[in-house]
Amino acid sequence: MNKSPWIFLGVLFALSLSWWGMVYGPASQVNNLSADLGGGDTLKPRVGLAKQGEQVYRENGCYYCHTRAATGGTFGYKIQITQLGDDQKINEEVVGLDYSTQTVFKKAYAYKAVAKAVDSLKAEQGKKAEERDEAKIGDANATLISAKAKAGAHGDDMEVNLKAYGISGVNFEPDMRAQLGLPAEMNEEQQAAVAGARFDITDGTQKWSDIESTVRRLKDKAGAQFKLQPVAKEWPDVQGGAGRQSVLRDFLFDAHAMVGVMRVGPDLSSQGSKIAPLDKDGVPINTREADNKFYKHLYDPQWEGESSHMPPFRYLFRERPLEKDVLAGPREIVIEKEGSSRVAIIPTAKARALLAYMKSLRTDKSLPEAPLVNQPKQASAE
Ligand code: HEC
Repeated sequence: MNKSPWIFLGVLFALSLSWWGMVYGPASQVNNLSADLGGGDTLKPRVGLAKQGEQVYRENGCYYCHTRAATGGTFGYKIQITQLGDDQKINEEVVGLDYSTQTVFKKAYAYKAVAKAVDSLKAEQGKKAEERDEAKIGDANATLISAKAKAGAHGDDMEVNLKAYGISGVNFEPDMRAQLGLPAEMNEEQQAAVAGARFDITDGTQKWSDIESTVRRLKDKAGAQFKLQPVAKEWPDVQGGAGRQSVLRDFLFDAHAMVGVMRVGPDLSSQGSKIAPLDKDGVPINTREADNKFYKHLYDPQWEGESSHMPPFRYLFRERPLEKDVLAGPREIVIEKEGSSRVAIIPTAKARALLAYMKSLRTDKSLPEAPLVNQPKQASAE
């Protein structure tokens, strides 16, 4: 029997299967990506110099030693209470001694007690005169006075008071606020402090398994409202300056996705954020100093006298030797190194393109699939 048609079909099937798996599959995943970030925000393609820089990066083989992929890591969790439950005893028990003894916590319950007393007083006074129970009114008044005294007993720090007011979840009339160490009329900042009040009961280093039972008890027993804030725990790239992890969408506009495979040199996915960090309005701050530092490094990675395994890319510059006391031209960058002659360099178009490309590599914008990561306090303190 002639088996060749079957062999042919078998080979064809095997080939098309691998094409399906290795070409069609990945391509269709990438094609599903869009520049739209939701909320009217879109990712912008590289244009002009930065786009040319992509080519310079490629032809110089920077990707042999550098990656453009900030990797993820593990999270810890911060439990932030936004509103305490009604029962003080149970809430104390759930948050634990470290937190239930804090002024904010105690004050919040003092405010809750005041609100309760005010309510029962109002309920009594709302009744018709003949139905009023004078004894109850007396009781409520006494409770109110002692609750007020308690609220006052925990210090008079306005910041603490506003926070406690926020997490207590109660609402006072202006004159009552004034009696309780709160502003009668709140300005915008104070309103925001109340609305955004958070009482942290973990410091963000805890794993999910550490807090799971606390979370369950807060919800089921204590009746508190809270948020879970993930905090980067072991996340070397974020600790090294990345804002978030790199994802497929970071390569959306690349002609060639140069992710890189080895980190002979540091990861470059956040170079843009390092050379030109964002100001508070989200606009990159470009400085000549930072630009020149990049150029000097590219021209001679050892210009600062530190050893480096990065090769020099001198041919991306025009250079001329500079005598000792001669001034350099306005666009020239001077390299002075102990033990070698003084030179003035001017970046060529390719070097400038490379810098523009570096500045386009950023991880300082939140993506839906890769939100900016919060860092624990210890790590970001400088
Ligand atoms: C042979 C490997 C190698 C190649 C190729 C290479 N680099 Fe590097 N690069 C390194 C090493 C190692 C370091 C770390 C030491 C240092 O700062 O000089 C580094 C550091 C850097 C830094 C500083 C990063 C930081 O955050 O401190 C930048 C920027 C950089 N390289 C850009 C480039 C560019 C652009 C190219 C291509 C033109 C390139 N590198 C090619 C090895 C390399």
